Amino acid sequence: MYETINSPVNYGGLELKNRIIFAPTTLGVSEEEYFERIRRIAAGGCGMIIIGDVPVGKSRFEKSLFDKKGFAYYKKLAEIAHSYDCRICAQLHQTDSNMLAMLKYVPGVLTKKISMQELRTLLNNEVAPYITKLPKSKIRSIINGFGEAAVLAVDAGFDMVQIHGDRMCGSFSSAIFNHRTDEYGGSAENRARFAVEAVQAVRSRLPELPIDYKLAVRQEDPHYGNAGVVESELGIFVPMLVEAGVTSFHVTLANHSSLEDTIPPRNHPYFKDEGCFLKFCDEVRRYTDKPITGVGGLSDPDFVEEQLATGRIACAAMCRQLLADPAWPNKVAAGQCKEIHRCVRCNKKCLGGLQQHQGTHCIYEKG
Ligand SMILES: Cc1cc2nc3c(=O)[nH]c(=O)nc-3n(C[C@H](O)[C@H](O)[C@H](O)COP(=O)(O)O)c2cc1C
Repeated sequence: MYETINSPVNYGGLELKNRIIFAPTTLGVSEEEYFERIRRIAAGGCGMIIIGDVPVGKSRFEKSLFDKKGFAYYKKLAEIAHSYDCRICAQLHQTDSNMLAMLKYVPGVLTKKISMQELRTLLNNEVAPYITKLPKSKIRSIINGFGEAAVLAVDAGFDMVQIHGDRMCGSFSSAIFNHRTDEYGGSAENRARFAVEAVQAVRSRLPELPIDYKLAVRQEDPHYGNAGVVESELGIFVPMLVEAGVTSFHVTLANHSSLEDTIPPRNHPYFKDEGCFLKFCDEVRRYTDKPITGVGGLSDPDFVEEQLATGRIACAAMCRQLLADPAWPNKVAAGQCKEIHRCVRCNKKCLGGLQQHQGTHCIYEKG
């Protein structure tokens, strides 16, 4: 039973002990709690953990590899994962939020006149002008930051990096946000340039490092996601990214519509089913033979095994399911599937907790 789930895989050059990956997940909890949560997830048996939102420069808001304290923090995460024979990957990201433009909303947020949902809409409205006007000198320094961050991540003990293809890579990719008239805007090839150069910045410094790309796909009919790569342009983006050095893809729906679309609850009008984004993996498969990870509503061992066994995906990434039960991989391996706390995709305490600034939790947590 579940032979494929439990079988090792060469994921873009990196050997994983099984096919289950903890998807990048911002938890918004204290440092000590974060270490403990990552420890539990590693102890639960997954083959790799992706640490979400590792910035590609110094940061006032997030832990950064570029300062001593942040570096020590990431080093500890790598040690925790490795002590359970679990690989660890740093999701390198650059925000596309215009931090200066955000300042004017702070009083409204503090006095609760602006809800988090409203803030998100306001911030999304700032993305197009920000991306379109970003000076080339700034673009060059951010791209350089991807390369430097990857070197630091490897020094801290990370086994691979994932380039976050949403956020700044995703908004440059999208004609909805990117209205530039220089070589970074206009044609699909030009809109791919930022992401391609970010990948090259890593590859030129680290010729052997496996590079995963979180490929955020935008759907037009019906319309979901605003950033990322529209389905009809995958045939241009995917080969360019592979040529630049990407060794595997982590495929999902693009962001910048509602968070409930990329993290869909069980009553979502369109993405309510198990494996809701796998059809995007099928699209990406048309243009590459690199390993592909599927994510989105994966929790049923039988379903996951079938997707892996048929070769539809090489790995299955889970966020909410491993928050609900970090021991999913060990329980599947031990034939104890009935013991699994299955994620019901209620979004109450995971996404809900994050949105209410209470940290990411799960309804199954005790206390
Ligand atoms: C609380 C929470 C935080 C998340 N943080 C990140 C993140 O930092 N980076 C990222 O790329 N995706 C993030 N995601 C999205 C997940 O990686 C994943 O794509 C999504 O939850 C769908 O997978 P699932 O159905 O297994 O939960 C987050 C999701 C949740 C619920």
